[in-house]
Amino acid sequence: MAGRVLVTGGAGYVGSHTTVLLLEAGWDVVVFDDLSNGRALAVARAVELSGRPAEVLRVDVRDRAAVARAVRARGPFDACLHFAAKKSVAESVLDPSGYHATNVGGTIALIEALVDHGTRRVVYSSSATVYGAADGESLGEDAPLAPVNPYGQSKALAERALCDAAVAHGLAIALLRYFNPVGAHPSGRIGEDPRQPGNLLPLVARVALGELPAVEVLGTDWPTPDGTGVRDYVHVMDVARAHLHALTWTEGRAEARAFNIGTGQGASVREVVTEFRRASGRSIPTVDAARRPGDVARLVACPARARSELGFVAEHDLASMVGSVWRWARDNPHGYGDAL
Ligand code: WQD
Repeated sequence: MAGRVLVTGGAGYVGSHTTVLLLEAGWDVVVFDDLSNGRALAVARAVELSGRPAEVLRVDVRDRAAVARAVRARGPFDACLHFAAKKSVAESVLDPSGYHATNVGGTIALIEALVDHGTRRVVYSSSATVYGAADGESLGEDAPLAPVNPYGQSKALAERALCDAAVAHGLAIALLRYFNPVGAHPSGRIGEDPRQPGNLLPLVARVALGELPAVEVLGTDWPTPDGTGVRDYVHVMDVARAHLHALTWTEGRAEARAFNIGTGQGASVREVVTEFRRASGRSIPTVDAARRPGDVARLVACPARARSELGFVAEHDLASMVGSVWRWARDNPHGYGDAL
Protein backbone atom coordinates (compact mmCIF):
# COMPACT_ATOMS: atom_id res chain seq x y z
CA MET A 1 0.00 0.00 0.00
CA ALA A 2 1.63 3.30 -1.07
CA GLY A 3 1.35 6.54 0.91
CA ARG A 4 3.36 9.69 1.56
CA VAL A 5 7.13 9.19 1.66
CA LEU A 6 10.02 11.49 2.56
CA VAL A 7 13.12 10.92 0.41
CA THR A 8 16.18 12.69 1.80
CA GLY A 9 18.92 13.02 -0.82
CA GLY A 10 16.31 12.34 -3.49
CA ALA A 11 18.13 14.65 -5.93
CA GLY A 12 21.20 12.40 -5.80
CA TYR A 13 22.21 9.37 -7.85
CA VAL A 14 20.49 6.43 -6.13
CA GLY A 15 17.85 8.73 -4.62
CA SER A 16 16.63 10.05 -7.98
CA HIS A 17 16.48 6.58 -9.53
CA THR A 18 14.51 5.32 -6.52
CA THR A 19 12.18 8.34 -6.75
CA VAL A 20 11.17 7.27 -10.27
CA LEU A 21 10.09 3.85 -8.99
CA LEU A 22 8.34 5.31 -5.92
CA LEU A 23 6.31 7.68 -8.10
CA GLU A 24 5.48 4.90 -10.56
CA ALA A 25 4.32 2.74 -7.61
CA GLY A 26 1.89 5.47 -6.51
CA TRP A 27 3.82 6.96 -3.58
CA ASP A 28 3.49 10.71 -2.97
CA VAL A 29 7.12 11.86 -2.77
CA VAL A 30 8.63 14.81 -0.89
CA VAL A 31 12.40 15.27 -1.41
CA PHE A 32 14.70 16.99 1.09
CA ASP A 33 18.08 17.74 -0.49
CA ASP A 34 20.71 20.46 0.12
CA LEU A 35 21.75 20.20 -3.58
CA SER A 36 25.44 20.12 -2.56
CA ASN A 37 25.85 17.09 -4.84
CA GLY A 38 22.36 16.21 -6.04
CA ARG A 39 20.50 18.16 -8.74
CA ALA A 40 16.90 19.36 -8.64
CA LEU A 41 16.90 18.64 -12.40
CA ALA A 42 17.27 14.92 -11.60
CA VAL A 43 13.99 15.04 -9.66
CA ALA A 44 12.34 17.01 -12.48
CA ARG A 45 13.37 14.23 -14.86
CA ALA A 46 12.06 11.60 -12.44
CA VAL A 47 8.74 13.47 -12.55
CA GLU A 48 8.91 13.53 -16.37
CA LEU A 49 9.66 9.78 -16.52
CA SER A 50 6.93 8.75 -14.06
CA GLY A 51 4.31 11.31 -15.13
CA ARG A 52 3.64 12.18 -11.49
CA PRO A 53 4.59 15.27 -9.41
CA ALA A 54 7.14 15.39 -6.61
CA GLU A 55 8.07 18.22 -4.26
CA VAL A 56 11.70 19.26 -3.57
CA LEU A 57 12.66 21.24 -0.46
CA ARG A 58 16.23 22.50 -0.06
CA VAL A 59 17.05 21.17 3.41
CA ASP A 60 20.45 20.54 5.00
CA VAL A 61 20.13 17.53 7.31
CA ARG A 62 22.85 18.98 9.56
CA ASP A 63 20.43 21.78 10.50
CA ARG A 64 18.36 20.06 13.18
CA ALA A 65 15.86 22.91 13.50
CA ALA A 66 15.37 23.13 9.73
CA VAL A 67 14.80 19.39 9.50
CA ALA A 68 12.23 19.53 12.32
CA ARG A 69 10.47 22.51 10.70
CA ALA A 70 10.36 20.82 7.28
CA VAL A 71 9.06 17.50 8.64
CA ARG A 72 6.41 19.37 10.65
CA ALA A 73 5.42 21.46 7.61
CA ARG A 74 5.37 18.73 4.99
CA GLY A 75 4.56 15.63 7.04
CA PRO A 76 3.23 13.41 8.37
CA PHE A 77 5.03 10.74 6.34
CA ASP A 78 4.13 7.07 6.18
CA ALA A 79 7.79 6.25 5.59
CA CYS A 80 11.21 7.78 4.96
CA LEU A 81 14.05 6.76 2.64
CA HIS A 82 17.23 8.36 3.95
CA PHE A 83 19.86 8.82 1.20
CA ALA A 84 21.24 12.25 2.15
CA ALA A 85 24.93 11.75 2.97
CA LYS A 86 28.46 12.50 1.90
CA LYS A 87 29.90 9.43 0.15
CA SER A 88 33.50 9.87 -0.97
CA VAL A 89 36.06 7.70 0.82
CA ALA A 90 38.93 9.97 -0.23
CA GLU A 91 37.12 13.13 0.88
CA SER A 92 36.19 11.54 4.20
CA VAL A 93 39.87 10.96 5.02
CA LEU A 94 40.49 14.71 4.60
CA ASP A 95 37.28 15.84 6.35
CA PRO A 96 36.22 13.26 8.96
CA SER A 97 34.28 15.79 11.04
CA GLY A 98 32.32 16.92 8.01
CA TYR A 99 31.41 13.31 7.28
CA HIS A 100 30.29 12.64 10.84
CA ALA A 101 28.33 15.91 11.02
CA THR A 102 26.36 15.07 7.88
CA ASN A 103 26.15 11.29 7.92
CA VAL A 104 25.76 10.73 11.68
CA GLY A 105 24.47 14.08 12.94
CA GLY A 106 22.09 14.39 10.01
CA THR A 107 20.71 10.92 10.63
CA ILE A 108 20.12 11.70 14.31
CA ALA A 109 18.38 15.00 13.46
CA LEU A 110 16.18 13.24 10.95
CA ILE A 111 15.20 10.31 13.15
CA GLU A 112 14.29 12.68 16.03
CA ALA A 113 11.99 14.67 13.75
CA LEU A 114 10.44 11.51 12.31
CA VAL A 115 9.78 10.02 15.77
CA ASP A 116 8.24 13.31 16.92
CA HIS A 117 5.84 13.20 13.99
CA GLY A 118 4.91 9.53 14.07
CA THR A 119 6.88 8.14 11.09
CA ARG A 120 7.90 4.61 12.04
CA ARG A 121 9.17 3.07 8.77
CA VAL A 122 12.66 3.92 7.54
CA VAL A 123 14.93 2.58 4.78
CA TYR A 124 18.52 3.68 5.24
CA SER A 125 21.15 4.02 2.51
CA SER A 126 24.13 2.25 4.03
CA SER A 127 27.26 0.88 2.38
CA ALA A 128 29.47 -2.19 2.15
CA THR A 129 32.31 -0.01 3.39
CA VAL A 130 31.05 -0.73 6.92
CA TYR A 131 32.71 -4.15 6.51
CA GLY A 132 36.20 -2.77 5.85
CA ALA A 133 38.78 -5.09 4.29
CA ALA A 134 37.01 -8.34 3.46
CA ASP A 135 39.20 -11.45 3.49
CA GLY A 136 38.10 -12.44 0.03
CA GLU A 137 34.93 -14.23 1.08
CA SER A 138 31.48 -13.14 -0.11
CA LEU A 139 30.24 -10.97 2.72
CA GLY A 140 27.15 -11.81 4.76
CA GLU A 141 25.41 -9.29 7.00
CA ASP A 142 26.85 -10.95 10.11
CA ALA A 143 30.42 -10.22 8.97
CA PRO A 144 32.21 -7.99 11.48
CA LEU A 145 31.82 -4.25 11.01
CA ALA A 146 35.39 -2.97 10.71
CA PRO A 147 35.35 0.19 8.58
CA VAL A 148 38.80 1.43 7.54
CA ASN A 149 37.95 5.04 6.67
CA PRO A 150 35.82 7.85 8.13
CA TYR A 151 33.15 7.38 5.47
CA GLY A 152 32.63 3.74 6.45
CA GLN A 153 32.82 4.69 10.14
CA SER A 154 30.09 7.32 9.66
CA LYS A 155 27.81 4.78 8.00
CA ALA A 156 28.40 2.24 10.77
CA LEU A 157 27.74 4.86 13.47
CA ALA A 158 24.56 6.00 11.72
CA GLU A 159 23.41 2.37 11.58
CA ARG A 160 24.05 2.07 15.33
CA ALA A 161 22.03 5.22 16.05
CA LEU A 162 19.16 3.91 13.92
CA CYS A 163 19.20 0.49 15.61
CA ASP A 164 19.04 2.12 19.06
CA ALA A 165 16.17 4.38 17.95
CA ALA A 166 14.32 1.35 16.58
CA VAL A 167 14.49 -0.34 20.00
CA ALA A 168 13.54 2.81 21.91
CA HIS A 169 10.62 3.81 19.70
CA GLY A 170 9.46 0.60 18.04
CA LEU A 171 10.60 1.64 14.56
CA ALA A 172 10.97 -0.60 11.50
CA ILE A 173 14.31 0.15 9.83
CA ALA A 174 15.88 -1.61 6.84
CA LEU A 175 19.63 -0.87 6.57
CA LEU A 176 20.57 -1.41 2.92
CA ARG A 177 24.31 -1.98 2.53
CA TYR A 178 24.98 -1.22 -1.14
CA PHE A 179 28.02 -2.77 -2.74
CA ASN A 180 28.88 -0.83 -5.92
CA PRO A 181 25.85 0.85 -7.48
CA VAL A 182 26.51 1.69 -11.16
CA GLY A 183 24.48 2.32 -14.29
CA ALA A 184 21.66 4.65 -15.22
CA HIS A 185 17.93 4.64 -15.91
CA PRO A 186 17.27 2.83 -19.25
CA SER A 187 15.82 6.03 -20.72
CA GLY A 188 19.21 7.76 -20.51
CA ARG A 189 17.43 10.74 -18.90
CA ILE A 190 18.88 10.33 -15.38
CA GLY A 191 22.24 8.97 -14.34
CA GLU A 192 25.32 9.51 -12.18
CA ASP A 193 26.81 12.99 -12.46
CA PRO A 194 29.25 13.47 -9.56
CA ARG A 195 30.76 16.94 -9.23
CA GLN A 196 34.17 15.34 -8.59
CA PRO A 197 34.16 11.87 -10.17
CA GLY A 198 36.29 9.40 -8.24
CA ASN A 199 34.49 6.13 -8.87
CA LEU A 200 35.46 3.81 -11.71
CA LEU A 201 32.41 3.89 -13.99
CA PRO A 202 32.02 7.68 -14.28
CA LEU A 203 35.76 7.93 -14.97
CA VAL A 204 35.70 5.23 -17.67
CA ALA A 205 32.76 7.08 -19.25
CA ARG A 206 34.87 10.29 -19.35
CA VAL A 207 37.68 8.41 -21.10
CA ALA A 208 35.16 6.95 -23.58
CA LEU A 209 33.94 10.49 -24.31
CA GLY A 210 37.55 11.62 -24.87
CA GLU A 211 37.48 13.97 -21.85
CA LEU A 212 40.24 12.04 -20.05
CA PRO A 213 43.23 10.37 -21.76
CA ALA A 214 43.16 6.99 -20.02
CA VAL A 215 41.74 4.95 -17.17
CA GLU A 216 44.23 4.64 -14.30
CA VAL A 217 44.17 1.03 -13.13
CA LEU A 218 44.73 1.48 -9.40
CA GLY A 219 46.85 -1.54 -8.57
CA THR A 220 47.67 -4.45 -10.86
CA ASP A 221 49.14 -6.74 -8.19
CA TRP A 222 46.06 -7.42 -6.09
CA PRO A 223 45.48 -11.09 -5.10
CA THR A 224 42.75 -11.43 -7.75
CA PRO A 225 42.60 -13.46 -10.99
CA ASP A 226 43.89 -10.63 -13.23
CA GLY A 227 45.59 -8.58 -10.46
CA THR A 228 43.07 -5.73 -10.54
CA GLY A 229 40.42 -4.81 -7.96
CA VAL A 230 37.23 -6.86 -7.87
CA ARG A 231 33.88 -5.37 -6.86
CA ASP A 232 30.23 -6.42 -6.77
CA TYR A 233 28.73 -3.96 -9.24
CA VAL A 234 24.95 -3.74 -9.00
CA HIS A 235 22.68 -1.84 -11.39
CA VAL A 236 21.25 1.32 -9.86
CA MET A 237 17.78 0.27 -11.04
CA ASP A 238 18.19 -2.97 -9.06
CA VAL A 239 19.30 -0.94 -6.04
CA ALA A 240 16.29 1.35 -6.47
CA ARG A 241 13.94 -1.64 -6.69
CA ALA A 242 15.49 -3.09 -3.52
CA HIS A 243 14.23 0.00 -1.67
CA LEU A 244 10.64 -0.75 -2.61
CA HIS A 245 11.09 -4.33 -1.41
CA ALA A 246 12.53 -2.93 1.83
CA LEU A 247 9.60 -0.51 2.23
CA THR A 248 7.22 -3.46 2.02
CA TRP A 249 9.37 -5.35 4.54
CA THR A 250 8.94 -2.51 7.10
CA GLU A 251 5.14 -2.85 7.13
CA GLY A 252 3.94 -4.13 10.52
CA ARG A 253 7.48 -4.58 11.89
CA ALA A 254 9.31 -3.05 14.85
CA GLU A 255 12.97 -4.00 14.32
CA ALA A 256 16.11 -2.83 12.52
CA ARG A 257 17.80 -5.26 10.12
CA ALA A 258 20.70 -5.02 7.66
CA PHE A 259 20.57 -6.30 4.09
CA ASN A 260 23.42 -6.56 1.58
CA ILE A 261 22.42 -5.19 -1.82
CA GLY A 262 24.64 -6.76 -4.47
CA THR A 263 24.64 -9.45 -7.14
CA GLY A 264 27.00 -11.90 -5.43
CA GLN A 265 29.20 -11.70 -8.56
CA GLY A 266 32.53 -9.87 -8.75
CA ALA A 267 34.00 -8.05 -11.75
CA SER A 268 37.58 -6.74 -12.05
CA VAL A 269 38.67 -3.34 -13.29
CA ARG A 270 39.99 -4.92 -16.51
CA GLU A 271 36.68 -6.77 -17.05
CA VAL A 272 34.75 -3.50 -16.64
CA VAL A 273 37.01 -1.69 -19.13
CA THR A 274 36.73 -4.57 -21.62
CA GLU A 275 32.94 -4.47 -21.36
CA PHE A 276 32.93 -0.71 -21.78
CA ARG A 277 35.04 -1.00 -24.98
CA ARG A 278 32.50 -3.49 -26.33
CA ALA A 279 29.48 -1.36 -25.41
CA SER A 280 30.91 1.94 -26.67
CA GLY A 281 33.13 0.88 -29.55
CA ARG A 282 35.75 3.25 -28.08
CA SER A 283 39.39 2.21 -27.45
CA ILE A 284 39.50 3.36 -23.80
CA PRO A 285 43.26 3.38 -23.06
CA THR A 286 44.44 2.30 -19.63
CA VAL A 287 47.58 3.06 -17.63
CA ASP A 288 48.76 0.95 -14.70
CA ALA A 289 48.98 2.97 -11.48
CA ALA A 290 49.65 2.51 -7.78
CA ARG A 291 47.04 1.22 -5.36
CA ARG A 292 44.71 3.85 -3.81
CA PRO A 293 44.95 4.24 0.00
CA GLY A 294 41.99 2.55 1.68
CA ASP A 295 41.26 0.23 -1.25
CA VAL A 296 40.84 -3.51 -0.78
CA ALA A 297 41.34 -6.34 -3.28
CA ARG A 298 37.81 -7.71 -3.39
CA LEU A 299 34.34 -6.74 -2.07
CA VAL A 300 31.53 -9.10 -3.10
CA ALA A 301 28.17 -9.56 -1.38
CA CYS A 302 26.44 -12.69 -0.21
CA PRO A 303 22.94 -11.59 -1.25
CA ALA A 304 21.06 -14.51 0.34
CA ARG A 305 19.28 -12.55 3.10
CA ALA A 306 17.83 -9.92 0.72
CA ARG A 307 16.62 -12.75 -1.49
CA SER A 308 14.98 -14.77 1.29
CA GLU A 309 13.66 -11.91 3.47
CA LEU A 310 13.02 -9.07 1.02
CA GLY A 311 12.25 -11.21 -2.00
CA PHE A 312 14.89 -9.14 -3.84
CA VAL A 313 17.25 -10.54 -6.50
CA ALA A 314 19.41 -8.29 -8.70
CA GLU A 315 18.45 -8.85 -12.35
CA HIS A 316 20.93 -6.81 -14.44
CA ASP A 317 24.30 -8.20 -15.57
CA LEU A 318 27.51 -6.23 -16.19
CA ALA A 319 26.69 -5.70 -19.87
CA SER A 320 23.38 -4.08 -18.91
CA MET A 321 25.05 -1.90 -16.29
CA VAL A 322 27.84 -0.72 -18.60
CA GLY A 323 25.46 -0.26 -21.55
CA SER A 324 23.26 2.06 -19.45
CA VAL A 325 26.27 4.09 -18.30
CA TRP A 326 27.36 4.57 -21.90
CA ARG A 327 23.82 5.57 -23.02
CA TRP A 328 23.61 8.17 -20.22
CA ALA A 329 27.11 9.51 -21.01
CA ARG A 330 26.56 9.59 -24.80
CA ASP A 331 23.16 11.33 -24.45
CA ASN A 332 24.32 13.65 -21.64
CA PRO A 333 28.04 14.32 -22.24
CA HIS A 334 27.91 17.12 -19.66
CA GLY A 335 25.66 15.27 -17.23
CA TYR A 336 23.07 17.64 -15.83
CA GLY A 337 25.24 20.58 -16.86
CA ASP A 338 25.31 23.53 -14.48
CA ALA A 339 21.72 23.01 -13.40
CA LEU A 340 21.16 23.00 -9.65
C1 WQD B 1 36.03 0.40 -7.85
C2 WQD B 1 37.30 -0.33 -8.28
C3 WQD B 1 39.30 0.72 -7.52
C4 WQD B 1 38.91 4.35 -9.96
C5 WQD B 1 33.21 3.35 -3.53
C6 WQD B 1 32.86 3.73 -2.14
C7 WQD B 1 31.68 2.96 -1.67
C8 WQD B 1 30.54 3.06 -2.65
C9 WQD B 1 30.99 2.73 -4.07
C10 WQD B 1 28.99 4.59 -1.67
C11 WQD B 1 38.35 -0.41 -7.17
C12 WQD B 1 39.22 0.74 -9.05
C13 WQD B 1 38.69 3.12 -9.34
C14 WQD B 1 39.96 4.45 -10.92
C15 WQD B 1 40.49 2.14 -10.62
N1 WQD B 1 29.96 4.34 -2.58
N2 WQD B 1 39.46 2.05 -9.67
N3 WQD B 1 40.69 3.35 -11.23
O1 WQD B 1 36.08 2.30 -3.97
O2 WQD B 1 34.88 0.10 -4.52
O3 WQD B 1 33.59 2.01 -3.56
O4 WQD B 1 32.10 3.58 -4.36
O5 WQD B 1 28.49 3.82 -0.91
O6 WQD B 1 31.32 3.51 -0.45
O7 WQD B 1 33.95 3.38 -1.32
O8 WQD B 1 34.40 2.15 -5.87
O9 WQD B 1 34.41 2.87 -8.22
O10 WQD B 1 36.00 4.00 -6.59
O11 WQD B 1 36.43 1.65 -7.29
O12 WQD B 1 41.19 1.17 -10.89
O13 WQD B 1 40.22 5.55 -11.52
O14 WQD B 1 37.89 0.38 -9.35
O15 WQD B 1 40.62 0.46 -7.08
O16 WQD B 1 39.02 -1.65 -7.30
P1 WQD B 1 34.85 1.59 -4.44
P2 WQD B 1 35.31 2.77 -7.01
